[in-house]
Amino acid sequence: MRIKLVVLLSFFLVPLAAQERMVVRLDEGWRFIKEDITSATDVSLDDRQWQSVRVPHDWAISGPFDLNQDMQFVQVIEDGEKEPKLRTGRTGALPATGVGWYRRKLHLPADQKGKRVYVEFDGVMSNAQVYLNGRYISGRPYGYSSFSLDLTGLFSFGKDNVLAVRVENKPEMSRFYTGAGIYRPVRLVSTSSVHVAHWGTYVTTPQISSGKAVVKIETSVENFDEKVDKVRLLTEIYDKEGKCVARTSSVRKGKEQPLRFVQKCTVSQPSLWSPDTPILYTAVSKVYVEDELCDTYRTDFGFRTLKFDKEKGFFLNGERMKLKGVCLHHDLGPLGAAVNTRAIERQLEMLKEMGCNAIRTSHNPSAVELLDLCDRMGIMVQVEAFDEWKMGKCTNGYNTLFDKWAERDLTDLIHRDRNHPGVIMWSIGNELREQDAADGGKVAQFLTDIVHREDPTRPSTAGFNNHWGAITNGLADAVDLVGFNYKHFDYVNKHKEHPEYVLYGSETSSAVSSRGVYKFPVRDNWEPWYNDYQVSSYDMDYVPWGSAPDTEFAQQDDNDFLLGEFVWTGFDYLGEPSPYGDGAPSRSSYFGIIDLAGLKKDRYYLYQSVWSDQPVLHVMPHWTWPDRIGQEVPVQCYTNYPKVELFVNGVSKGVRTKDASAKFTRYRMMWDSVKYEPGEIKVVAYDDTGRACEEKTIKTAGQPYQVRLKEDRKQIHADHKDLSFVTIEVVDKDGNLCPRDASMLFVNVQGNGILKALCNGDATDLTSFSSNYMRVFNGKMVAIVQSTDLAGEIKLVVSGERLKKGEVTIGTSGN
Ligand code: GAL
Repeated sequence: MRIKLVVLLSFFLVPLAAQERMVVRLDEGWRFIKEDITSATDVSLDDRQWQSVRVPHDWAISGPFDLNQDMQFVQVIEDGEKEPKLRTGRTGALPATGVGWYRRKLHLPADQKGKRVYVEFDGVMSNAQVYLNGRYISGRPYGYSSFSLDLTGLFSFGKDNVLAVRVENKPEMSRFYTGAGIYRPVRLVSTSSVHVAHWGTYVTTPQISSGKAVVKIETSVENFDEKVDKVRLLTEIYDKEGKCVARTSSVRKGKEQPLRFVQKCTVSQPSLWSPDTPILYTAVSKVYVEDELCDTYRTDFGFRTLKFDKEKGFFLNGERMKLKGVCLHHDLGPLGAAVNTRAIERQLEMLKEMGCNAIRTSHNPSAVELLDLCDRMGIMVQVEAFDEWKMGKCTNGYNTLFDKWAERDLTDLIHRDRNHPGVIMWSIGNELREQDAADGGKVAQFLTDIVHREDPTRPSTAGFNNHWGAITNGLADAVDLVGFNYKHFDYVNKHKEHPEYVLYGSETSSAVSSRGVYKFPVRDNWEPWYNDYQVSSYDMDYVPWGSAPDTEFAQQDDNDFLLGEFVWTGFDYLGEPSPYGDGAPSRSSYFGIIDLAGLKKDRYYLYQSVWSDQPVLHVMPHWTWPDRIGQEVPVQCYTNYPKVELFVNGVSKGVRTKDASAKFTRYRMMWDSVKYEPGEIKVVAYDDTGRACEEKTIKTAGQPYQVRLKEDRKQIHADHKDLSFVTIEVVDKDGNLCPRDASMLFVNVQGNGILKALCNGDATDLTSFSSNYMRVFNGKMVAIVQSTDLAGEIKLVVSGERLKKGEVTIGTSGN
């Protein structure tokens, strides 16, 4: 849904034409305190001593890291543990628990009197309780749910109103980092008394052919004006050029609240939405009383068909396609949970370039920004609602809310997200403990019924790790698509036993790697553990329930019936530092294909070589091993060229082709017994005719000499939100990356920007993301620079002892 957004810099709203709804993002002007203050709702309280913050805000992300934070003594049944273990860093070792209060003034001019006033929260982590002018309005416990509150009765026009929000995070409420506070946008909305309800449109496309498509628009209109008993709704459909391509108008009479309109119209020659052609249309709903326009509301949607076939897999617009998906947690690494559109966009750009075409919002409702971006960029989405039902995994997890809130949370989620063409399925849960319970099937059926009631156009699904249990107790029968978590070894059997299931890998691989770390000997390792708390980037380390990426690729390639896979995970995330965490210094995951800083690990190129159409030639490891002279350093290459030859200091070590007879050589090329000698390795890729097409060289690095910077964007918007991600590298005199360097660097930002965060991707580094110094990890880290609202320049200077400085200038320009 896209609505007219008016962003103002003051508390005052400029009156618009009477009929327009006004939507103001409440980014600025908030006061915050991390304390439970009993007088926080008092209108007269002087809060000027509280911290001044902008929303979205995550109070915990600046740290400090402390491994005692939210330490949990639990048995993770899902990981096959037989007894409880002490877990450090499970939720990120950041100060997310406790109570915090937010306050802000709201003002609407006196001439707006008579309008309806709402406040919309996209997400408050968690247990939000909202007060206006000292009076309790309402609350929302699930931190991932979006909600709207009606302030009309208590709102004073022409005066300051005081909005106060209490937030409370209990310990042991999650298995991963949640963030803390008002971490998603908040908006103040004022409308006429007759208007489209919150999430009040549902646009579907019941018939699509190349010549024409039928659009069905169901609209809820709220009428708070007693004198009005007849409302006209005009819906216009606009194409991407802004041309009106269809319209329909109808009248409803009566006092039903809300008034429900069902309209249909036909669009000829519809352009279809797909990953290659992410074409959106907009339905513009115009509400009239007599001839007066009371409200205008916009809904983006797309034309596409979905088919999930138990034998042939997934079809989009009639075309067969594998889901090449990744699971994503909602945190943005060093930016925490606080939503930032550019940070999400950067993640999606990297994933799309890898060949990824789908995201699973594991294990909870995502930010709306992610869905909007997926629509625009052509990425399909599995929206997931819950990580637990009634039988909890965490003492204070969703199990404490399920009975009272599950129906409401799931219904609201579907209402919020069901117009997005990118959304292709609804997951009602991940690895539920109900897989083992006699009534598991019943709970699943209750949730699937909600999905079918609220959106009959998309299937329900769930991710099963205990698929044996879920099949026995009827849980698997109660979803439309049966998702297996880590069941690569059993897809074929279960397909034979249950040919009625539509099957896919809802969670796959769980390979672990630390960027730039290589462990010897190189081996297929399902129980990795190393005393430096890192894991190997040869991409053969994975957790006991997981597999190397190669194993899942083979299953997907050999079995047409599988819809595809969702790899655990696209990016590293805060918390869950498996295989460490049992009293270990790690505070973030190793599962990511891309590290916490957003730097690509080797694994990125393995997926890219299998998933994308672009030529890929990637060689590893680095070639700086002074401690391994004369010893074996196996070389591997991720490529989609048919033949590759390796040279060490100009001497050929042989040509490789892919060989499906062995587990790893089917998707990679390997030279196992290469002896290390300083100098260089070079891979040369040949096409089928033997012509050399591309080559890559890695040289042995000399001493660290200088800091090199590379920004992802040279010019950003001066809107206090936009970001430039600057990659920082320590290189030798010749510009070779020093791949094992750990220099401490200092980062100085001047001009019209701020240093938002530093991150090096090392899961064991407990330096605050908000500090201006950090060690590079294997020669690299990332500085995230944010604009202010002043146009101009931002200068970044990065220095380190005995290193030549690196400098970069980024321009910022008007909104
Ligand atoms: C799964 C779980 C994920 C994550 C993953 C790690 O069992 O669904 O949330 O914990 O394991 O391998």
